[in-house]
Amino acid sequence: MSRQFNRTLITSALPYANGPVHIGHLAGVYVPADIYVRYLRLKGEEVLFIGGSDEHGIPITIKARKEGVTPQDIVDRYHGLIKKSFAKFGISFDVYSRTTSQIHRQTAADFFRVLYDKGQFIDQESKQYYDEEAGQFLADRYIVGTCPICGNDRAYGDQCEQCGTSLSPTELINPKSALSGSVPVMRKTKHWYLPLDKHEAWLRQWILEDHKEWRSNVYGQCKSWLDMGLQPRAVSRDLDWGVPVPLPNAEGKVLYVWFDAPIGYISNTKELCEKQPDKYGDWQKWWKDEDTRLVHFIGKDNIVFHCIVFPAMLKADGSYILPDNVPANEFLNLEGDKISTSRNWAVWLHEYLQDFPDKQDVLRYVLTANAPETKDNDFTWRDFQARNNNELVAIYGNFVNRTLVLTQKYFDGNVPEHKELTDYDKEVFAEIENSKLKIENLLDNFKFRDALRETMNLARVGNKYLADTEPWKLAKTDMARVGTILNVSLQLCANLAIAFEPFLPFSSAKLRNMLNI
Ligand code: MF3
Ligand code: ZN
Repeated sequence: MSRQFNRTLITSALPYANGPVHIGHLAGVYVPADIYVRYLRLKGEEVLFIGGSDEHGIPITIKARKEGVTPQDIVDRYHGLIKKSFAKFGISFDVYSRTTSQIHRQTAADFFRVLYDKGQFIDQESKQYYDEEAGQFLADRYIVGTCPICGNDRAYGDQCEQCGTSLSPTELINPKSALSGSVPVMRKTKHWYLPLDKHEAWLRQWILEDHKEWRSNVYGQCKSWLDMGLQPRAVSRDLDWGVPVPLPNAEGKVLYVWFDAPIGYISNTKELCEKQPDKYGDWQKWWKDEDTRLVHFIGKDNIVFHCIVFPAMLKADGSYILPDNVPANEFLNLEGDKISTSRNWAVWLHEYLQDFPDKQDVLRYVLTANAPETKDNDFTWRDFQARNNNELVAIYGNFVNRTLVLTQKYFDGNVPEHKELTDYDKEVFAEIENSKLKIENLLDNFKFRDALRETMNLARVGNKYLADTEPWKLAKTDMARVGTILNVSLQLCANLAIAFEPFLPFSSAKLRNMLNI
């Protein structure tokens, strides 16, 4: 199941640039991805961490209409804000670019063209709602009408937000265009489809047989999609915001956002490698070499796209590697309620940073300790406070503080030599070794909560060691023993700085600095 790879390419879902990012984004995708990347870097592995903004799609055009600005204005604003928030939280992307870049438009168009030329698409005509007044086809979200289930007269063509039912536009009673208010008409349109049904057989084998080690939530979702039977999926839309379909006679048609966005991982890799070829090498090494391990970090709503649709696209091209794992998280709720951008129920990262300008590690810690890895989880401020006070401060902070204060007091801040080691001292060293193995094993298996708990346990060992050995009492009688105890404690601090680095990078940098290592 696990084979040797020479390098790892880590991607994290490209967030829509239609609003700021919140704690749900961090907990679901970016903190776990960053922990994993930092861990691999600590081990000296060759790794690349790709991020970026997803700047196409209906959510962005809707936001622009609401504000009376252009979609480009919207993505310019939020791309900048999102990028800054991630940087502030220490999410250590090698590249954070955007899908409106020239290199992406070219890469996505070329990708489509290769599949088209290889006969990997089918085209099909269908009828879709068209707004004659606005002169354009209507995305499902742009059609409003009465919900056939609950009677809500402001249901959307894709969903009724009152009763939660998924709808298709033709089910709406009295449909109206959200653009002009006029009654839309049905008009014929042609689109290109990726025939997923033709990919079903190898997808079944690849996921259900060859990747039984994937997280059970991911595996289970894939299995139920595959068991329902795959259908051809449209890869184009009638819209004026997106990457134009690179074919003659395709005016007014763009690539569907879920076709172009994952190609953004490739474009962003290209952009980075072309800028710094000496450092990163050729982009194809990261995407087309069987010795590269590809891992996608995503939230659970993205599973089908990363486990089925994008792999089918990569396979249809034929020259790309496929993901080796897709560790998807469940959702994080806030104080018992679903996080919602439209209801403004979220802890926005840029606002958190105003209230707690230097407490990024605290949030990283809480979101990891309570990560929605196997089920939806809840963030509460009460838990935030408790974990800060009872764990970060009372255990880790307390141990480091006592060690450094005592070293300062008795040895002028110099590391004392250790004399003969007692069994207890040796046990502490054995604990460090033992913890390292456990933490690495957990991280290797994407069990970040458990890995963090194990790391905090090592700090607990330190606290207990000081409480048991009481160097402050021995200072009057046996300075040599005090030196040994502090030597052991300092070594433990140094190891904690390393073990916590993927989780709490800012604190680790501080601690390394205090220890002068
Ligand atoms: N923008 C999508 C979302 O927020 C994620 C896109 S991931 C990518 O759900 F693979 F398409 F880039
Ligand atoms: Zn309804």
